[in-house]
Amino acid sequence: MFTRGRSGGPRSATTELAGDPIRSPVERRSPGRAVAEHFDAVSGVYYEMVDAYRTDLGYYHARELEEAERWARALQPARILDAGSGPGRHTRRVLILGLETVSVDVSRNMLRELVGERAGSDAPATARPVQGDIRSLPFRSTAFDFIVCMEVIEHLPSFPGDVQRAALELTRSLRPGGHLILEFPLRLHSLLRRFPRSTVDWNRIKKREWYRSSPPPLRYQRRFSLARVERIARRRGLRVKERMFVRIIPSGYVDRFPQLQRLDRILEKVPLIRLFAREAILVLQKEDPTAEHGPHPEGEGP
Ligand SMILES: C[S@@+](CC[C@H](N)C(=O)[O-])C[C@H]1O[C@@H](n2cnc3c(N)ncnc32)[C@H](O)[C@@H]1O
Repeated sequence: MFTRGRSGGPRSATTELAGDPIRSPVERRSPGRAVAEHFDAVSGVYYEMVDAYRTDLGYYHARELEEAERWARALQPARILDAGSGPGRHTRRVLILGLETVSVDVSRNMLRELVGERAGSDAPATARPVQGDIRSLPFRSTAFDFIVCMEVIEHLPSFPGDVQRAALELTRSLRPGGHLILEFPLRLHSLLRRFPRSTVDWNRIKKREWYRSSPPPLRYQRRFSLARVERIARRRGLRVKERMFVRIIPSGYVDRFPQLQRLDRILEKVPLIRLFAREAILVLQKEDPTAEHGPHPEGEGP
């Protein structure tokens, strides 16, 4: 199962990853180098950062976890890839379910967090980290049944080129009929953020050294049109099975009036309005000429 990549680099077999240190050093001169360096710099404070911006980053993170877990439980995939895993939010959650999981990320420091090279870490012993790029994945074709790719494509250096490359690679790595859960920010939400006091006052809550060294958190962030991303996915043989939307009301208002979160939960389901959400989560299924449909968490179609 272990093969050589197009670039001559190693391709991974999950059976050979157990107990390994982080594998497959990534090309440090690639256009994504600045992204890797940024995430290397914030890796040690990633969760702290997410918690600090609770009405902005924190809310999406909680929702993404819920949705990825719901699908993992329903699909019971034999092998999962956490693509752009960071310090392993999703990896940990699916490992707890007892599912075999590989985590790939360009940032070596993020993977260090995942495998718990820090003292006092609660890293899962079964984590399988691989340093690699979603635009050129170091895995054999059809290796995975389910891929989780949350909050990653917005950090790719170019659009549409890099997103097309990533879609191609993620699709290649999925078995026919396998599922990809993909989350990314939507462009229309920027219109809502033009309203006065619609954004979180980050100056008020910033208080950490890291913020000065790497401002603002999670930069290199692109926003997408839903239709465009879906078109790219469809051209790579992925059909949309479910669409979910996260947070309509701009975070600045929710920060001041937390009770608005309830209203948000309703608005996230309203057609047209939900296109203004901050994030979209798509569940995509790779075409399988031999089968009709895969399972759905609620036992029904999209
Ligand atoms: C905002 S974090 C999200 C981490 C994790 N998916 C989560 O939801 O908590 C983005 C992660 O994507 C990684 N990343 C960015 N570009 C990447 C690429 N081209 N290939 C693989 N990982 C990448 C970063 O290093 C970082 O760990």
